[in-house]
Amino acid sequence: MAKTITLIPGDGIGPEVTSATVEILRAAGADLEYEEQLAGVAGLDALRSPLPEVTLESIRRNGVCLKGPLTTPVGTGFRSINVAIRKEFDLYANVRPALTMVPGGRYEDIDLVLIRENTEGLYVGVEHYIGLEGDPRAAAESVMIITRFGAERIVRYAFEYAKKNGRRKVTLAHKANILKYTQGLFLDVGREVAKEYEGEVEFEDAIIDATAMYLVADPYRFDVLVMENMFGDILSDLMAGLVGGLGLAPAGNIGKTEAMFEAVHGSAPDIAGLGVANPSSLTLSAAMLLDHVGQPEVATRIRSALTSVLADPELRTRDVGGSQGTRGFTDAVIRQLA
Ligand code: NAI
Ligand code: MG
Repeated sequence: MAKTITLIPGDGIGPEVTSATVEILRAAGADLEYEEQLAGVAGLDALRSPLPEVTLESIRRNGVCLKGPLTTPVGTGFRSINVAIRKEFDLYANVRPALTMVPGGRYEDIDLVLIRENTEGLYVGVEHYIGLEGDPRAAAESVMIITRFGAERIVRYAFEYAKKNGRRKVTLAHKANILKYTQGLFLDVGREVAKEYEGEVEFEDAIIDATAMYLVADPYRFDVLVMENMFGDILSDLMAGLVGGLGLAPAGNIGKTEAMFEAVHGSAPDIAGLGVANPSSLTLSAAMLLDHVGQPEVATRIRSALTSVLADPELRTRDVGGSQGTRGFTDAVIRQLA
C-alpha cells in the first residue's frame, strides 16, 4: 500500500520546487500519496494561522512530512514555523548529508554526513538582558543546556546511522576544553555511548574550531560528524558550501515517531515566481524521505538521475552555473529516469 505523506509546498519558491519534486517522485515510481497542507505565510493567508492545527494533525497521522521553505518575518510577526514543527514533534536529530553532485567544485567526491542535535544547546532560547547603571541592556546572557538524555540519544543516533549506512567513523566535535560542564557532559556521554560500538564503528573526538579548519583543508578525514545544536547549525552550512551551496543541500529532522524532510535553503523571495529555482535540494530531501519509509531503491534511482543531469553544465540551473529554468531541469531529470 502506498505510504501517505504530508506535503507542505511552503512560501516563495516553495510551490515551484515542490511541484517539480513531486513530478520527479512520480516519474521515479515512488509509492507515495500526498496530503497537501498549508503552513507559513500561505497558512496565514488561507487559514489565518502560520501553523494550522489541521497541518499538525496531518503530520501526526502520517508520521512523515516533506516541507518546502517557509518565510519567517524578520523582527515582527510570527516565530519560525520550522522551529515550531521541530519542537512540536521533538525532531531531535537534524541529519544533513554533504555529497558532491556537481563536478569541478572546490573538492571532488565529498561524502559527509553531519548529525546535529536539534533541541538543546544555546538554541533553547533561555536568554535575557541585565540592566546596569540605568542601561537596561548593559549586558545579556544565554544559557546553554545539555542533558545526559539529549546527548545520549543524539550520539546513539549518529552511531546507529553509521552502522545502518555502512559508515566507518563517527567524529564528535565539541568545545569541552573551554566549556567544561556543558560540552564536557556532551563529550563524556559521547565516549560512553561510543564504547558500545567498539569494533563496529570507529570513534574520535575533536575540538570544534579545529574541526572547522580541517573540514575546509582536508574534508576527507571525516565521515559522520555529531555535535550540539549551534555548532551543527554553523558547520552544516560550511559543509553545504563544500559541495556547491544551498541549492543542493537536503535535510532530515528525525524524531522518535515523526520525521520532516526539507530543503536547507529558504523561500528565496528574490527569485520566487520566476521559474528559475533549483529543485535539487528538496528532491534530495525527498530521496532521504524515501530511505526513511523503506523505498531506498527509488531514492537511489532519483540520486543517480540527479547526478547524471547535474554532470552536464547545459542542463544545470543558474545557481550552479547553468542556464536552465526549473522546468527545463525537471524535464531533464524525468527524461533520465525514463
Ligand atoms: P534563502 O535560502 O531563501 O536565499 C538565499 C539565496 O540563495 C538567494 O539569493 C536565493 O535566490 C538563493 N537560493 C535559495 N534557494 C535556491 C534554489 N533552490 N535555487 C536557486 N537559488 C536559490 O535565504 P534568505 O533569503 O536568507 O531567506 C528567505 C526566507 O526564507 C526568510 O523568510 C527565511 O526566514 C526563510 N528560511 C526558511 C528556511 C526553511 O524553511 N527551512 C531556511 C532558511 C530560511
Ligand atoms: Mg542554519
